Amino acid sequence: MSGLLHRVDVSTPGASTAANYPVFIGSGVLKQAVPALESFCHGAQVLVVSNSTVAPLYLDRLLALLPNKALSHCILPDGESHKNLQQAERIFTALSALRASRDVTLIALGGGMIGDITGFAASLWMRGVNFIQVPTTLLAMVDSSVGGKTAVNLAAGKNLIGAFWQPVAVFADTDLLDTLPARELSAGFAEVLKYGAINDADFFAWLEQNVNVLMHKEPTLLSEAIRRSVQNKADVVGRDPLERGERMLLNFGHTFGHALELAGNYGGILHGEAVAIGMLAAAHLSAQLHPNLAVDGQHTLRLQNLIRAFGLPQKPAFATRSEELLAHMKLDKKSLSGQLRLIPWRGIGQAYVGNASDEQILRAWAAIL
Ligand code: NAD
Ligand code: GLY
Repeated sequence: MSGLLHRVDVSTPGASTAANYPVFIGSGVLKQAVPALESFCHGAQVLVVSNSTVAPLYLDRLLALLPNKALSHCILPDGESHKNLQQAERIFTALSALRASRDVTLIALGGGMIGDITGFAASLWMRGVNFIQVPTTLLAMVDSSVGGKTAVNLAAGKNLIGAFWQPVAVFADTDLLDTLPARELSAGFAEVLKYGAINDADFFAWLEQNVNVLMHKEPTLLSEAIRRSVQNKADVVGRDPLERGERMLLNFGHTFGHALELAGNYGGILHGEAVAIGMLAAAHLSAQLHPNLAVDGQHTLRLQNLIRAFGLPQKPAFATRSEELLAHMKLDKKSLSGQLRLIPWRGIGQAYVGNASDEQILRAWAAIL
């Protein structure tokens, strides 16, 4: 595998969509990975789904790697506000026009928005067809392209309709990050540092040491950060593919963050930025839950410093109120019988699934806003 830096294997044996698949990571993997991209497209037909920003940059390069396939593409408008049923229907219309059969392969070429909606469509077309993730943002490389969560948003909340549907392969080619805007790169690092915050204190410390070099996209370290993130995620997803327990930890900061995204109408804040602020809110909540534990200034401060060093915000740029955010949080998918389940921590690397009262959540928001 010349030139290929890393391969992480994901295994989700207990999932209803049982799957084993490789994640190829590094500079040039799209061209160099063995097996090659084309070998994962089992039938003759391939539909590439991308958006109006990414397609002009990378669609031709991708299509050139599939010389033996009948190729089509479906280009969606850019932006989280388009991750909806209407745009999913455009993918189904493209598949219908293609007269796509059960052995069609969908390829998601884009960030998490395109990955999620393409996976959603793949899970439904003829009750489920193969799809491949070609993530083009750091966030998608380290998180959304791996683990099989697919979804679209409703006006009532984020990712409310979707399925667990695993890809057959993921190609995380770091060359595609050359054109990624700096703000999007920072948003991706929120999900990277999340893995350290949840259960890998060594990785958190490694990120603290290397943050400046990583922000300059130094290729070797960047690939290593992606590899460690994907390995972390693969380990958790392998043990709990359907999020019955441990996988909920990957939502550290997300229940708070999703409320911010909704308050910003999916346009006021990036997902990774919302997660960064959400992780801080979770740390403030944890400080209330464990006044005698070491969730004191030191852990919260280290989190705050790393978030700042990765160029991420510590509060939303738009006006919102704690009560509004609490109301948004109530629709979270981790809730059971109306009871919110949250991810507090006992310090860096020690997250767990827990509960909190509305008053404690409101106080955590107050510490942020
Ligand atoms: P995104 O897909 O909206 O991409 C961010 C922006 O970067 C877009 O404007 C996009 O066009 C642009 N872009 C993408 N690649 C580029 C490139 N190489 N060069 C230049 N511009 C590029 O956002 P995202 O942060 O990648 O993903 C966020 C989405 O992922 C949300 O919908 C979130 O809910 C979802 N998500 C899903 C999971 C999961 O497990 N399925 C996990 C985390 C996040
Ligand atoms: N992004 C959280 C998960 O995949 O479970």
